[in-house]
Amino acid sequence: MIAGYAVPDFVSDFWHFYIAGITIVSIIAVMWFLKAQTTQKLAPGEKAELMEHAWDGDLQEFNNPLPRWWLYGFWGLIVFSIIYLVLYPGLGKFAGVWNWSSATQYSEEKSRVDAEFDKVLEPFKGKDIMAVAADPTAKEMGQRLYLTYCMQCHGSNAQGDGKNFPNLTDGQWLFGGDPDSIQASISGGRLGEMPANLLGDEQSAKEVANYVLSLGGKPHDAALAAAGQAKFAACAGCHGEDGKGMAAAGFPNLTDDAWLYGGSEAAIEESIIKGRKGGMPAFQDMLGDAKVHLLTAYVWGLGGGEKPAAAPAPAAAAEAAPQQ
Ligand code: HEC
Ligand code: HEC
Repeated sequence: MIAGYAVPDFVSDFWHFYIAGITIVSIIAVMWFLKAQTTQKLAPGEKAELMEHAWDGDLQEFNNPLPRWWLYGFWGLIVFSIIYLVLYPGLGKFAGVWNWSSATQYSEEKSRVDAEFDKVLEPFKGKDIMAVAADPTAKEMGQRLYLTYCMQCHGSNAQGDGKNFPNLTDGQWLFGGDPDSIQASISGGRLGEMPANLLGDEQSAKEVANYVLSLGGKPHDAALAAAGQAKFAACAGCHGEDGKGMAAAGFPNLTDDAWLYGGSEAAIEESIIKGRKGGMPAFQDMLGDAKVHLLTAYVWGLGGGEKPAAAPAPAAAAEAAPQQ
């Protein structure tokens, strides 16, 4: 993690002394060189001499001393570098007397911004998800968070338009659409994995793919589907006898029109032969409670949110529930 990163990754002190040594010796060498080149000054009245050598036949030079402004500029730079190396990290693993590091500066700025954010998020913390979803200000903030952190996978309209990412607006959920389940998806991430090659051969994959299509009432080859019916036993443990999946367990319904990887015969065959693996990253550490809460409400309010199963929704929240 960036914030905790303060120790330079030298494995032995050798490199510390090696680098610090080269730096110090270089500075001293530059000072010596500069001094050695500038002891000579023109005495009053003395004229600079033309040097003997010539380039390209007739290009010659005078032995003028270095211009003063240039010389003092150079000394100024040397003094600056020394002061810099005393104050800031730069000499091997010496941290500098100010103990500055980009990591601490970053985490200080981040906590300052987080504190500002917390003030804005305060009113929504601990409020019921469905009530937050109904609040226009919260919705606006949730949308901004969504566009920053979620859009690249789930699409700007949250319909998962890039393939392989679930649509968050359609009320078809892999892991549940009630507030707690959505919150768990966002904060802890999700992993969906379907093993490859459960059926062994491509012919069986074709048959079972047609059986899957028949379960959803879609156009299919009846003979192939009939042959696939018995083989679907290999799938029923996860997707259910009826292919409707397991709500909230991450096993997708194979009979609806919400496909992660495509619902054509070819795409279903590919799912069966190659297996599938979808990963939703966990956001709890990165975003913290308040932002996850706001995002949960935003996603819940996109049109697919379900009411919590156990407790009946309070009247105010019921009004706020999106029309399906
Ligand atoms: C790196 C891509 C990626 C990002 C970024 C991402 N997601 Fe996801 N998300 C996924 C994938 C992939 C899945 C489906 C996981 C699976 O197949 O099991 C998923 C699943 C979900 C689910 C569960 C959907 C269901 O049907 O149950 C929710 C809710 C969700 N994401 C919300 C979000 C939110 C909110 C953000 C932004 C904070 C976000 N995601 C950012 C890739 C991503
Ligand atoms: C061990 C549990 C398991 C078994 C057994 C299993 N699946 Fe899956 N299947 C999954 C999971 C989990 C996913 C979702 C993968 C993801 O989230 O990325 C999935 C996804 C799929 C998909 C893609 C759905 C979509 O929305 O695009 C198809 C099609 C599918 N399975 C068909 C089958 C068939 C047919 C069988 C039997 C041969 C089968 N599965 C057996 C767990 C399983």
